[in-house]
Amino acid sequence: MKFFLDSAHVDEIDYALEMWDIDGVTTNPRHVQVSGKPFMTVIQEIGALMAGTDKPVSVEVNPHLDDPAEMVAEGEKLAAISPNFVIKLPATEAGFKAVADLAALDIRSNLTLVFSASQALQAMRMGAYFVSPFIGWKESNGEETFNLIADIMSIRDNFAFETEVIVAAVRNARQIIDAATLGADIVTAGLEVFRDAFNHPYTADGLKKFQSFWDQTAYE
Ligand code: E4P
Repeated sequence: MKFFLDSAHVDEIDYALEMWDIDGVTTNPRHVQVSGKPFMTVIQEIGALMAGTDKPVSVEVNPHLDDPAEMVAEGEKLAAISPNFVIKLPATEAGFKAVADLAALDIRSNLTLVFSASQALQAMRMGAYFVSPFIGWKESNGEETFNLIADIMSIRDNFAFETEVIVAAVRNARQIIDAATLGADIVTAGLEVFRDAFNHPYTADGLKKFQSFWDQTAYE
């Protein structure tokens, strides 16, 4: 299973590449705003950091766009900046059409803001490279997500679509494990979510206990 870092913070991405060998990056307008840098500056920095790797970086088009031709034009412009870039488009009618048009130009896309299996199915039909169901947002709204992921994986496998499923907006280790047990291709999450998932309080407690025993024992 692949892990993507959900961030536009270059230091975080650098750390996650070095320490965790993450497989790619996803950004969104919130992450770019939090970085405090202009959009073009931050995506160029991320592109430079990932240069020479085959790790994808999802970069979102202007979210005000609602015309497929304008989405495609912006997607082409972004894709020309780095071969790592995958164009993030919203799961709207215009977004689905732009996916097909970008695919015809050999430009990869990631359908974002996906909240239903029917949206994921249409993204796959139109040739999306990635599809990103936002499970954290759904759970915040009181909706279940285990069956959503299972349905999307079944649809993908039933029809042998080539689209990879990114379980997105992941907030905790339980959601990572749900995605993994259901066979999702990728999880994207923030630095702290992965860090929490890789640690366990019993590991820290156990280490302290063992250090104490070690200190009370002669070495030779
Ligand atoms: C995924 O590609 C999105 O960037 C992300 O998971 C959205 O969720 P968040 O910004 O609420 O974490």
